[in-house]
Amino acid sequence: MKRQTETVAASLAVTIVCSASFIVAYARDGGRLWEGLSLAGAALGLCAAALAWAFGILTAERVEDRIDEYPSPSHERAAESGELREDAARVSRPFWLFGMLGAALGSFGLALLVPIRSLGPRPDDTLFHTKWKSGIPLVRPDGTPVRADDLNVDSDVVVFPQDAVGDAMSQATLVRVPAGDVPETQGYLVYSRVCTHAGCPVALYRASARELMCPCHQSVFDVMQEGKVLAGPADHALPRLPIEIGDDGILRATGDFPQPVGPSFWERG
Ligand code: FES
Repeated sequence: MKRQTETVAASLAVTIVCSASFIVAYARDGGRLWEGLSLAGAALGLCAAALAWAFGILTAERVEDRIDEYPSPSHERAAESGELREDAARVSRPFWLFGMLGAALGSFGLALLVPIRSLGPRPDDTLFHTKWKSGIPLVRPDGTPVRADDLNVDSDVVVFPQDAVGDAMSQATLVRVPAGDVPETQGYLVYSRVCTHAGCPVALYRASARELMCPCHQSVFDVMQEGKVLAGPADHALPRLPIEIGDDGILRATGDFPQPVGPSFWERG
C-alpha cells in the first residue's frame, strides 16, 4: 500500500514538473521539441498516477454481510457500532495525496490553456474591411498611381491602395468602358478581385462582353450591372469600389467596398 501511494505521488510529481517546464518552454519559446516532450511527460504522469491509484490504492476486496431478518438485540448493535467506529478511526486518509492530485490537475490544465495565447489578437471587424479608405490613390502593382488618361477604353489593370500594394483582400480590377456609360468617373469602374465563390483572383476581363471572369470555377460577373453574377458557382456580386477623379487627374477611392469582399462567410456565422 505504501509503495503504491509512493508510485502515485511520484507520477503526480512528474506531471507537475513537466507541466511547469512546458509553461516555461512555451513562454520562452524554447522550441517545439521541448514543449512536446514536456507536455507528453505531463500527460503520461497523469495516466500513470490514475492507473496506480486504480489498481494499487483502491482495494479490490469485496465485502459482504448478512442482512438479519430480525433486529439485533440492542447490546449487540451497540457493540457493532462501537467496532465500526474503531475501524473507521483506523482508516488512514492520505490528504497530502489529494493535494498533489489537485496540483497535478491544475498545472496540467494550465499547460493546456496557456497556448491559447498563440491565437493572437481578436480579429474584431477586420475581416469586414479592406485597406481602402476615402482619398487613397489607386496604384498599380509597381506603386505608380493611375491617372484618368492612362487607360484606353476596354482595357483593365490590377490596382491596390497606395501604401498597401500586394494586400490580398484589397486587390481590385480597374476597367475602363466608354465614358458615356459611366460619365461620373469618365468610364472607370473598380471591382474587388477576390472571387465571392472561393476567393480566387478574378483575373480575366472580357472587354467585348464587359464581363469579369474567375478562372478557378468560371464564375462570370457583369461589369455594367454592379458586378452581378451571370454564371458559375458564385452567389454574390463582386463588390464595387467607389472612386472619383481628383483635380490632379489621379483616381482615388471615396471609401471602402460597401460589402465585405471574398466568399460569403459572414452570412454563415
Ligand atoms: S473561386 Fe472563383 S469561381 Fe470558384
